[in-house]
Amino acid sequence: MQWKALALALLVGQSSGQAFMEMMRFQCSQLVIDRLDPLVNPGLIPSPHLHQIVGGNSFNASMDPADHDLVAGSTCTSCTFTEDFSNYWTAVLYFRARNGTYKRVPQFVSEGLRADGGITVYYIPAPDANTKVTAFKPGFRMLVGDAAARAKTDVRKVCHRCMPKTGDASNVNCGAPDSQELPSKMCDGGIRSVITFPTCWDGKNTDSANHQDHVSYPETGDTSVGSSGTCPTTHPVKIPQVMLEVMWDTRIFNDPDLWPEDGSQPFVWSTGDSSGFSQHGDYVFGWKDDSLQRAMDNRCNGAVCSALKVQSAEDAMKCTKQRVVEEDYDGWVTEIPGMAMAA
Ligand SMILES: *[C@@H]1O[C@H](CO)[C@@H](O)[C@H](O)[C@H]1NC(C)=O
Ligand SMILES: *[C@@H]1O[C@H](CO)[C@@H](O)[C@H](O)[C@H]1NC(C)=O
Repeated sequence: MQWKALALALLVGQSSGQAFMEMMRFQCSQLVIDRLDPLVNPGLIPSPHLHQIVGGNSFNASMDPADHDLVAGSTCTSCTFTEDFSNYWTAVLYFRARNGTYKRVPQFVSEGLRADGGITVYYIPAPDANTKVTAFKPGFRMLVGDAAARAKTDVRKVCHRCMPKTGDASNVNCGAPDSQELPSKMCDGGIRSVITFPTCWDGKNTDSANHQDHVSYPETGDTSVGSSGTCPTTHPVKIPQVMLEVMWDTRIFNDPDLWPEDGSQPFVWSTGDSSGFSQHGDYVFGWKDDSLQRAMDNRCNGAVCSALKVQSAEDAMKCTKQRVVEEDYDGWVTEIPGMAMAA
């Protein structure tokens, strides 16, 4: 339903007059929830805050690009496409009760998908089929958002949507009614969090010190969806638009007797932030050989792609990983894991 609505929204939203735009959209089931952050805090066990991680099971605390081969090191992936051993991760959402204790908000999947929570991953090519996008190189990684942010930043592409009970016919890309803030009201269909990565690359570096400077959002043109718009001359290479969609099942807390009496909203990111601005997404590329390039060149659509091998949702759900940092993240806890480490 939501997928159909999304296709419809794109159809309506196309300014280029195209009837339809292909995009890969598939589910990656939960691999592990752990206090690790190989991009920002490589080797640090535990990292400052909790993440939910999906993808190949070679994921670990260090993932040094010099010697960590995600494809060779993985024996399974929690994603639909079996050649995708990439890792994707985001912060974790908590509910804060009136008595001050916290409970992790469970994740669910968008309508029509089947998985143990996790992330819906999109790879969106250029709207114009003649415009080539270049798949990432081994060792490529990037980050969107800022775990330290507590106020509005120019990060336009990390947002929340207060979901209606069913269906959702509006845009996917952080335009209205989405907000960087966490929704202030109870949401009948839970909260969706979307993270959209840049679509322009400098063509040389697979990473940069802040994991952001080697990529850029397009400078001009319609940048609403896909690898569209014009890339800056510093970052001339068009890369697929990676987008992460995470569904938080806040519905179980939709009870006025549970919400704060002062009218504020009760959800807090694992960064310790209740504003919403600190949600972020991390990506470490790990597609086998040229599989992602093939998928992009073939304009693969949805989770069906003749150029790629697919596994069942059951098999994807079997790919999990033992958590490294043992701590209670599922009971009612007096502190969000790592909060004591927060500055
Ligand atoms: C992560 O995996 C690599 C192998 O790719 C290994 O050399 C490294 O020691 C591992 N790091 C941790 C912290 O487990
Ligand atoms: C705190 O509140 C939650 C939600 O009402 C409840 O489930 C939990 O048992 C309470 N914990 C304590 C220690 O009172």
